[in-house]
Amino acid sequence: METIKDIDISGKRVLIRVDVNVPLDEHNNIADDTRIRAVLPTINYALDENAKVIIASHMGRPGGKVDSKLSLAPVAKRFSRLLKKDVNFAPDCVGPEVTSMVNGMQAGDVLLLENLRFHPGEQKNEDSFAKELAALCDVFVNDAFAVAHRGNASVVAITQHAPVCVAGFLLKNELNYFAQALEDPARPLVAIIGGAKVSDKLGALENLLQRVDKLLIGGAMANTFLKCMDYEVGESLVENGLLWDARSLMKTATKRGTGFYIPVDAVVADRFDKNAETKIVPIQEVPEKWLIMDIGPATSLLYSEVLYGAKTIIWNGPMGVFEMDAFSRGTLSMVNYVANSYALSIAGGGSTDVAIYRAGESHRITYISTGGGAFLDLLEGKTLPAVAALEEAGEPA
Ligand code: 3PG
Ligand code: MG
Repeated sequence: METIKDIDISGKRVLIRVDVNVPLDEHNNIADDTRIRAVLPTINYALDENAKVIIASHMGRPGGKVDSKLSLAPVAKRFSRLLKKDVNFAPDCVGPEVTSMVNGMQAGDVLLLENLRFHPGEQKNEDSFAKELAALCDVFVNDAFAVAHRGNASVVAITQHAPVCVAGFLLKNELNYFAQALEDPARPLVAIIGGAKVSDKLGALENLLQRVDKLLIGGAMANTFLKCMDYEVGESLVENGLLWDARSLMKTATKRGTGFYIPVDAVVADRFDKNAETKIVPIQEVPEKWLIMDIGPATSLLYSEVLYGAKTIIWNGPMGVFEMDAFSRGTLSMVNYVANSYALSIAGGGSTDVAIYRAGESHRITYISTGGGAFLDLLEGKTLPAVAALEEAGEPA
């Protein structure tokens, strides 16, 4: 896959599709600008090469209509601050006004377009909309990993119309690290999978079981595995419809000789509340009517020993309700084990990144993905439509 570095962009109109779908607070301020910072290398490179830089992104799910609360205006300001230069903001992403703004650009100018999803054509992958976007540029750069799993016009159909299509550094990095972790990993390869539901992770678990040496399970999804082994889990969330699948996954692991680890103890609470009464119990002794909220210290120790020997670690999903302090210890201690390990470590999706940043350990994880759904789709072994489209566009006709 060619990147922006492989082509000449000097003086050209370069449309960089990024994913700056960042969380906003109630005053429309940016609550976390990680995704904005993540695309700066590509933008700075384009500026150093004297390109005319046009940035496009979506924000939220406005459903094809204008919604002022989901304007990218606050993002334009943040870009301007981080790039230390003026960033013009277009009131739309296509149309005559945008075209004339683009026509007026000088080399080294930056223009951010308004939310792509204000147009229904974006999420419908409409050709006519993609054509309009493509007409704004000489070169299309996809640097939007986090939306690469969506068949949207600005990442898929556009590659049929833009004269030249390449990847940005973030997209390339995300794919490279992922391949290093899952396609040709140093072994042992250990996966940590947490989060609330087995149903969200079934595909990922099935795929991972074909590839990993050991699998550590945490979060509420562990309850379904515990239940399928006839442990009582009180009032904890269980997906009863998936007990058969859970059992079958564990059987596959046994057959393949893959270590499949589930919690041996738990932090339980008498209600789902940060001020609930809590205690630590062996997994056989979860009291009736109580809920499992986090892995316990024995599980944490057991998992740390597994991680200690790992050469590659891939992590998706927290170990418990880490948003509440009383139930954050399992997840935060896992962050420390992963950070302390000698392994190549990749984390992403399901607020795993949030936990890592909260623990202050982001610099000691090899790579933290900016993707949620896109990262999970890679874990499931799926091809990302935007990546496939970019690869196809790069092939000689
Ligand atoms: C995300 O945050 O998941 C990406 O920006 C994609 O957004 P979507 O889930 O609304 O398609
Ligand atoms: Mg999403």
